[in-house]
Amino acid sequence: MSNTEQPKTQQDIVIFGGAGDLSFRKLLPALYMAHLHDRLDASTRIIGIGRQPWSVAEYHAFVDSHSPEFIEHHAFTQEDWQRFLERLHYVSLDVTDADSYIKLTNICPEPALRVFYLATAPSLFAQICANLDTAGLVDSQSRVVLEKPLGTDLASARKINTAVAEHFAESQIYRIDHYLGKETVQNLMVLRFGNAIFEPLWRAPYIKSVQITVAESVGVGSRAGFYDGAGAMRDMIQNHLLQLLCIVAMEQPISFDPDDVRDEKLKVLRSLRKMNLNDIRHNTVRGQYTAGASEGTAVKGYSEEANVPAGSKTETFVALKAEINNARWAGVPIFLRTGKRLAKRQSEIVIEFADSPFSIFNAAASTSVNAQKQPNRLIIQLQPEESIQLEMMVKEPGSGMNLTPVKLGLDLHTASDKRRAEAYERLLIDVIKGRLTHFMRRDELEAAWIWVEPILKGWQVLGDKPREYSAGSWGPSASSALMARENLTWHEEA
Ligand code: BG6
Repeated sequence: MSNTEQPKTQQDIVIFGGAGDLSFRKLLPALYMAHLHDRLDASTRIIGIGRQPWSVAEYHAFVDSHSPEFIEHHAFTQEDWQRFLERLHYVSLDVTDADSYIKLTNICPEPALRVFYLATAPSLFAQICANLDTAGLVDSQSRVVLEKPLGTDLASARKINTAVAEHFAESQIYRIDHYLGKETVQNLMVLRFGNAIFEPLWRAPYIKSVQITVAESVGVGSRAGFYDGAGAMRDMIQNHLLQLLCIVAMEQPISFDPDDVRDEKLKVLRSLRKMNLNDIRHNTVRGQYTAGASEGTAVKGYSEEANVPAGSKTETFVALKAEINNARWAGVPIFLRTGKRLAKRQSEIVIEFADSPFSIFNAAASTSVNAQKQPNRLIIQLQPEESIQLEMMVKEPGSGMNLTPVKLGLDLHTASDKRRAEAYERLLIDVIKGRLTHFMRRDELEAAWIWVEPILKGWQVLGDKPREYSAGSWGPSASSALMARENLTWHEEA
């Protein structure tokens, strides 16, 4: 790594895996939106890297036929799109061949701020970083973005991190978890630390339980090649759901600086109670979808999807009960749940507050006995709508003192008429501006693996087979039973 500190007049975003799924579905549409809203410097070029021996025109044709459908309709105009394509370059190279990087060096002027986005298989990360460095393309201001999944277990994650660290300082490494770029996730920090009313109650014994659900209605689609080796635990829980948990559970950071925030998230991960075999048997549920109906259409089961090996035991659903061993959360069960082909796309965090210690509205005074039992809940919905709702009890109009639940609702879309950028756009701009707060630090990522890995191993030791659930349902019945043991139910709206 050289230490050139010259002022950077040129910005280059170099995307390895430039013709891959992630690029044409997410990264290029996000960069188009950033371009459209003047968030990219006039000098910014986007350089797609791929194996295909394409000319720039051929790459444009590929992008043109794949990306526009992933851009919001109202934001797309041919004129803007053509201007965006002018920023887009292409270099065909074999990323494992150090000599071929000369092609990239040749089109990268000095000085330039270079962002290398590695949207390839993680097994290539080490080699790409080494080859970039050897080619003289890495300096102290270069940035590298690492897409998940970063490894398949602790050892492989450490190996990748160590290899990347030979060429980039930690402050140059952006480990992306796109959930941290979602507006509502960022809003959660403001909800917690920008409002005085929640903080005193945000702890045991005032919180009875926490639920974090990321439910998807889609199936594995064309990604079985990757997914079958990963499963829901590695694909979703290890990263997205644990990151959401960190933001829900962390202490107030001393500032919004990257390391202050990440220090607090790390403490949460390190405080997660390790599960032994008994815990794994009782507190985790794996599932795999069978044929069913998704949003009114008949769909295949996981085992019938393209490229899924016969007899696959990969889980497409996980529900589990976690516990955090610290003073704030002792005794509060935390439920995490994610799955594909569930009843609907619904990602949310539900904070269920403790029951009132004593109720003067007893059964005799009320005809709505059940309603009395309903606890206050704060429901933070990330998807499909972005909203915050507080469920409260009010008096039912009329004679008597009957209680009924109502929702105090905040629809975040109507709360402001400012444009809400997609997660990838926001995070890419953060990378360009050098803002690391919403990216994972190495120790965070490794701490997540330290908690997850014994569960993966435990399933193997126990010979655990995923339980079947019909596509379009809310997962295996054992998932509801997990909650029922604590007298709780999942929050599921039709
Ligand atoms: C990705 C997972 O990280 O997140 C996918 O690899 C999953 O399997 C996706 O579908 C969900 O993201 P979102 O933003 O659509 O909820």
